[in-house]
Amino acid sequence: MQQPELYIGLMSGTSLDGIDAALVDLGQTQPRLLAKYYLPFDDTLKSDLLALHLPDHNELHHAQLTGNRLARLYAVAVNTLLDNATTSNAKIEAIGCHGQTIRHCPEQGYTLQIGNAALLAELTGITVVSDFRSRDIAAGGQGAPLVPALHDYALRHPGIHRVIVNIGGISNLTNLSPDTATSGFDCGPGNLLMDAWCMRHLGKPYDDNGTWAVSGQALPALLEQMLDESFFALPPPKSTGRDLFNMAWLQDKLQGNERVEDVQATLLELTCRTIAQAIQKHCAGSTEIYLCGGGARNQALCNCLIGLLPGSSVQTTDALGVDSDYLEAIAFAWLAQQTLRGKPANLPQVTGAKHPCVLGAIYRN
Ligand SMILES: Nc1ncnc2c1ncn2[C@@H]1O[C@H](COP(=O)(O)OP(=O)(O)O)[C@@H](O)[C@H]1O
Ligand SMILES: [Mg+2]
Repeated sequence: MQQPELYIGLMSGTSLDGIDAALVDLGQTQPRLLAKYYLPFDDTLKSDLLALHLPDHNELHHAQLTGNRLARLYAVAVNTLLDNATTSNAKIEAIGCHGQTIRHCPEQGYTLQIGNAALLAELTGITVVSDFRSRDIAAGGQGAPLVPALHDYALRHPGIHRVIVNIGGISNLTNLSPDTATSGFDCGPGNLLMDAWCMRHLGKPYDDNGTWAVSGQALPALLEQMLDESFFALPPPKSTGRDLFNMAWLQDKLQGNERVEDVQATLLELTCRTIAQAIQKHCAGSTEIYLCGGGARNQALCNCLIGLLPGSSVQTTDALGVDSDYLEAIAFAWLAQQTLRGKPANLPQVTGAKHPCVLGAIYRN
């Protein structure tokens, strides 16, 4: 065993569900998850974050104050993680903190993740690396997805064509073909539209196991209309977020007389169809599909994907020994290590950047 090199990855994604915190040993040939902790957001923080996605009065001030609240919560997640693992902060090389995206507009030259990394460094006494996406966008890229680089490092097989599908608020895939360079892109909405519809009609943050969706029937005409969205036909590199896929996008497609459970069934089908089409179009010849992110816990969604991908095995990344709930947090721990080592970590063929870049901003301790 080599010397341990401990990093913490903090991920809070577009689902706005909460913080995934991972304590990872990156001193070994493969990242080793030593401890994990999940801290859910309360309803007020979630709705404040949701509001910041849209223009509003004095939004700059509100974004900064919400960033400070996030930093304090990130610090709670870090300290709890370290307490649970009886590990001192002095042992941690750095925290890789993704932050919370409130705008993602690469075509306009920016993306914005809040979470006051300076305050997090102050509260934890640990070096913090954050703002991973901006440098890639400055170099002409989408700034997303960034996790394919870690998939390439940790999950590639020399003789088997694998695809890793991360189903968070947005879904993205990584194509790991033995014959070509790693590619990857955002496929479209993962859970975020299903979550929003479920909250509106059932008052619950998500449709547990897709049970509600299964009680309805997908509406073919509505599905076709949704699939007409030009984002789905765009060639990679491409990335997306709540800026495009939101309640207004969904509302625009509805007549108003649909049964609400049928709309949920249609949204689940949309998530699965757009992933399956992306695999068929861009990952031809792949035989092993590995799911991760919260959507991999949705049994109805997994069953639907299995049905759409005959000829491929569909499992979670747990089958490869990597915790499917914490893969993204592990990725941001790894990205922080690349930053501290001065190593470029974007894959230009994935993000569209003109060149490899060292990502992130460092707040030292
Ligand atoms: N048991 C479950 N059934 C259905 N959906 C689930 C389940 N567990 C988690 N999810 C979905 O996963 C989402 C969180 O996934 P996550 O990977 O954290 O996304 P993000 O990276 O966008 O935060 C939840 O909002 C929910 O939609
Ligand atoms: Mg999450």
